[in-house]
Amino acid sequence: MNLEALLSDRLAAAFAAVAGGDVDPAVRRSQHADFQSGAALPLARRLGRAPREIAAEAVARADLAGVAVAEVSGPGFVNLTVADELIADLTNTVAADPRLGVPVTAKPETVVVDYSSPNVAKEMHVGHLRSTVIGDAAARLLEWQGHTVIRANHLGDWGTPFGMLIEHLVDLGDTGEGSLADLTAFYQAARVKFDADPEFKRRAQQRVVALQSGDPQTLALWRRLVAASERYFLAVYDLLGVSLTATDFAGESSYHDQLDSVVAELDGKGLLRVSDGALCAFPAGFTGRDGEPLPLIVRKGDGGYGYAATDLAAVRHRVRTLGASRMLYLVGTPQRTHFQMVFAVAREAGWLPGGVSAEHVEFGSILGPDGRMLKTRAGGTVKLAELLDEAVQRASALAAAKTPGLEPAALARVGRQVGTGAIKYADLSTDRRSDYVFDWDRMLALTGNTGPYLQYAYARISSIFRRAGAAAAPGPVAVTEAAERALALELIGFAPVLAEAGRSLDFHRLTGYLYGLATAFSAFYEKCPVLSAPPQMRASRLALCDLTARTLRQGLDLLGIATPDRL
Ligand code: ARG
Repeated sequence: MNLEALLSDRLAAAFAAVAGGDVDPAVRRSQHADFQSGAALPLARRLGRAPREIAAEAVARADLAGVAVAEVSGPGFVNLTVADELIADLTNTVAADPRLGVPVTAKPETVVVDYSSPNVAKEMHVGHLRSTVIGDAAARLLEWQGHTVIRANHLGDWGTPFGMLIEHLVDLGDTGEGSLADLTAFYQAARVKFDADPEFKRRAQQRVVALQSGDPQTLALWRRLVAASERYFLAVYDLLGVSLTATDFAGESSYHDQLDSVVAELDGKGLLRVSDGALCAFPAGFTGRDGEPLPLIVRKGDGGYGYAATDLAAVRHRVRTLGASRMLYLVGTPQRTHFQMVFAVAREAGWLPGGVSAEHVEFGSILGPDGRMLKTRAGGTVKLAELLDEAVQRASALAAAKTPGLEPAALARVGRQVGTGAIKYADLSTDRRSDYVFDWDRMLALTGNTGPYLQYAYARISSIFRRAGAAAAPGPVAVTEAAERALALELIGFAPVLAEAGRSLDFHRLTGYLYGLATAFSAFYEKCPVLSAPPQMRASRLALCDLTARTLRQGLDLLGIATPDRL
């Protein structure tokens, strides 16, 4: 059990005895002591007693084995300072555990993580970057915690744009395949024709009908478009080091044959009404600006299905067929109402039974230096692939300057790991609900809360072990110096941070933890000689170095960030 949980359990019991009922002990890491509990403050009003008095009674009743100092402070906080021996004991337990003290979950769930989800025949843009990066971290973390994770790449691979795209492919004839290499140009050319040429527009509209009625020749052309896009997306995932594969594509088209039955089932439950010719659901609690109930369009007036119908089918499929008990949707904030309404309709339909959760894991936008949506100099959308190429180039230059002797192959690998790592870390280290400014210099800086700084900290520890050679045998940890104690306290705090991140998917807390750990390591390394220390102390300090490296590696790996041995 980790220290935070241990102290929480003990204080919970003590406060419960004082209050005569369950109390959340609210034990947190603190600046004023190792840990602090503020539980007495909200209790005071309930019990009609002074908070300091409640805190003092809780301290008197608590099991304080391994606690060196327990005192009441300020308006009624309980401050706890842990004994060095307990810190050392727990550090040794964590060091001996390949999972670094992080338990496998006692309640494994089947979690569907819907992420990346770009649109076919369109280039992935930076908006898809956040979904891809945060979603991949979620999938990795939940998997490591012992859940069954189903990655769902909900490609936009169906709908009216395919009429014009297919007709454009037909017009290009044999040269079609080649022009698919540049998907944005392909899409834009089709769009220009669609807007300018009524004859083309008419053909495109007929094509949509042919596609939806399953015309074999049309389907074959459609598949070529989808396949070209999928190849492109997979290349980006590969470069980015994202764990999505070809088997994770579950595009909108895959729900096509379930849409009639979605409508039938909703209709059977009396949840649908015709409004302006369209078939709509009006989930309780959603009203527009005018105070009128807000419709979720399930089938359009022309009989076609849209984005909402597909998402309803996806919810039903994921719960019923895939057995999901938790579903995460990594999609930007602008789609909040869409998901709230889809989830509400699904609940009303009984497709989301109690105990199954559907969460819109929303995130803000990536902004340019001017504080507006990130754009190219010419004002176009920034392509993800070009952004990644630039990151790799910049990071390679950085690595070449830092470690002059690196061979070309190693340099290329490190450049890729540092470049993509910097982009991912910059994204994950800001509160996902906020927008953030994309800033090359800041994300590639070797100091501060950045990916390269953490990778550098890891590489530095690797070099200690390279230098130590055969003398590098870690031994039991003993806490003698303040800097050792501070580092050890960080090291045994990995488990609660991950538990929290698995619930909230707030990865900036995990990056904050890793940054704090690297900082504590730096301070330790400055104060405490390692290789020149006497044998027992050297072994203890090597164990601290080793555990720091393993924690950094594991933590960054969960974020999808590599840890090269040298930078
Ligand atoms: N393709 C959509 C877009 O680019 C995102 C899809 C998100 N997933 C979902 N189940 N709706 O905006």
